[in-house]
Amino acid sequence: MQNRIMITGAGSGLGREIALRWAREGWRLALSDVSDAGLQETLSLVRKAGGDGFVQRCDVRDYSQLTAFAQACEQKFGGIDVIVNNAGVASGGFFGELSLEDWDWQIAINLMGVVKGCKAFLPLLEQSKGTIINIASMAALMQGPAMSNYNVAKAGVVALSESLLVELRQQEIAVHVVCPSFFQTNLLDSFRGPTPAMKAQVGKLLESSPITASDIAEYVYDQVGKGEFLILPHEQGRVAWQIKQQNPQALYDEMANMADKMRAKSRSVG
Ligand SMILES: NC(=O)c1ccc[n+]([C@@H]2O[C@H](COP(=O)([O-])OP(=O)(O)OC[C@H]3O[C@@H](n4cnc5c(N)ncnc54)[C@H](O)[C@@H]3O)[C@@H](O)[C@H]2O)c1
Repeated sequence: MQNRIMITGAGSGLGREIALRWAREGWRLALSDVSDAGLQETLSLVRKAGGDGFVQRCDVRDYSQLTAFAQACEQKFGGIDVIVNNAGVASGGFFGELSLEDWDWQIAINLMGVVKGCKAFLPLLEQSKGTIINIASMAALMQGPAMSNYNVAKAGVVALSESLLVELRQQEIAVHVVCPSFFQTNLLDSFRGPTPAMKAQVGKLLESSPITASDIAEYVYDQVGKGEFLILPHEQGRVAWQIKQQNPQALYDEMANMADKMRAKSRSVG
């Protein structure tokens, strides 16, 4: 019976809600984050929801911390059945304004953090014939304006997930990738970008979501159960993805118009 799950970035937002969703099924949870306070809060909520487990501080940029976390899962749980590579940070800014340091920071966490999570846990997943759930974003599919480093990192997560889907089928390891649109969490706290105006615009987008992190966790639980590879929790996102596949130019035009509007807005605010 499969009942052991590990989640990165579990101290807040979607990671916490995914923990609670699986906790309600009585799973044992291995929770990691860079925020000790966030982890403690998630663990106490998890216990109230019917699950149990342990927390371990782990920065997904550091491979040795991820392998140590995998070892802890082996010692405490005897292995792992599901891994959720969720830890991530926000960024924004037009390409010309983003520094190379902005790029390195974004890729190190949002892309290489997922690569390292998959690699560190692969031996355990091979034993359990487990499941990988990678948290990407609609940004990976839409390439919205003024977030090129985020778009590239998340598109990398989708490409990695597709690669693993294909490569790991023989080992019977299942792979899923989740692409939500914006939703309200603490993601803005981690925002890095060249202008405060851009941060304010991203904040407005997060607030605009018709669904919550808890709704997304519910949708992910359901779709993973159904074996869906590409999981698009927002209705609007599913529609946009269909349009993009049928008529990519229509989406490019819409994004270019959005870029013009954002430039005008950031000029008037900044
Ligand atoms: N909120 C959105 O609108 C949105 C949309 C699409 C995708 N996502 C993705 O969802 C995932 C979860 O984000 P969220 O919205 O819940 O944000 P959040 O900020 O509430 O949670 C992210 C968690 O990741 C942790 N974290 C950050 N850097 C880390 C690192 N180097 N190592 C380990 N942990 C780290 C943070 O401490 C935090 O607890 C991210 O991958 C994000 O890109 C979010």
